[in-house]
Amino acid sequence: MRYSTPLRYPGGKQRLTPFVLEVLRANELQGCDYVEPYAGGAGVAIQLLLQGHVANIHLNDSSKAIYSFWRSILTKTEEFCRLVSTASLTVEEWKRQREVIRNPGKHSQLELGFSTFFLNRCNRSGVLSGGLIGGLQQNGAWKMDARFSRNELIRRIEVIAARRSSITVRNLDAEQFMADYIPTLPAKSLVYCDPPYFNKAQRLYLDSYQPEDHARIARVIQTRLPRSWIVSYDSAPEILEYYAKRRSFLYNLQYNASTVYKGREVFVFSDDLVLPSESTLPCIDEVVRYLDHGKYKPNAKSREATRKRLLAA
Ligand SMILES: C[S@@+](CC[C@H](N)C(=O)[O-])C[C@H]1O[C@@H](n2cnc3c(N)ncnc32)[C@H](O)[C@@H]1O
Repeated sequence: MRYSTPLRYPGGKQRLTPFVLEVLRANELQGCDYVEPYAGGAGVAIQLLLQGHVANIHLNDSSKAIYSFWRSILTKTEEFCRLVSTASLTVEEWKRQREVIRNPGKHSQLELGFSTFFLNRCNRSGVLSGGLIGGLQQNGAWKMDARFSRNELIRRIEVIAARRSSITVRNLDAEQFMADYIPTLPAKSLVYCDPPYFNKAQRLYLDSYQPEDHARIARVIQTRLPRSWIVSYDSAPEILEYYAKRRSFLYNLQYNASTVYKGREVFVFSDDLVLPSESTLPCIDEVVRYLDHGKYKPNAKSREATRKRLLAA
């Protein structure tokens, strides 16, 4: 059975699940608690849990809309699925749902959670503040119901809700979540941070960061996060600089063997992690082979080498 998150997510990382699993295996972390401080659609977390690779998942997102979605499908599963099966897929309903997300304080958690889901499935690229698929005249090649296959979406929600006792959801700022919540988790945990992109994030997410926030969170992750961690980002030079002392690699998520390789995204690792020496994902296999795989003891020379390699890439 295929396991997927019910949310479409700009920059969604579900396709990277095989690599995260390879990291878990290389570090004997299978069966651990798995944590996403910037959960969004939580594609990796959901797959790892439903395929039985981790025991529990801990999801956090500062967006009240995203949080309400996850809370609603776990605590009001039946009502939520009824809304999915009966929602009217019309432009009038889309406008009504848009008002709900614009005025979250006036609505229940279930209403806000459902409007998040509705707009995510009916908007272009799943962008909550974006335009309707097919346009307001519904005269595009695709109509607003193109991504709203009710039975499949209900199935995904029910499969996730059946595992509710292994899922926690929080609605904190990531920094607070890292400071207050993560230290309460078992030592055998893996934290995957996928913050909003450095570039263009304002257009994609309701909550995003300014450059100084990215710099601050990079310091917090590298100095105060008390568990093994991995971070993914778009490969802006600033991001490469913030993490220059750690092991990292650039890869192209839109990997196409016939095009010249161009790194567009970056993965960074905490020093205690052993890195897989190969990957079943071609876009990662071709770069992971050249890394220092064992636990990392950076010294001035290796830091400088990492910095130069990153900046030259
Ligand atoms: C790149 S997306 C995560 C995508 C996710 N990995 C997936 O595969 O669907 C970043 C997420 O971080 C959330 N976010 C933005 N600022 C945040 C903050 N300060 N604390 C926690 N979450 C935040 C956004 O709401 C967004 O859902």
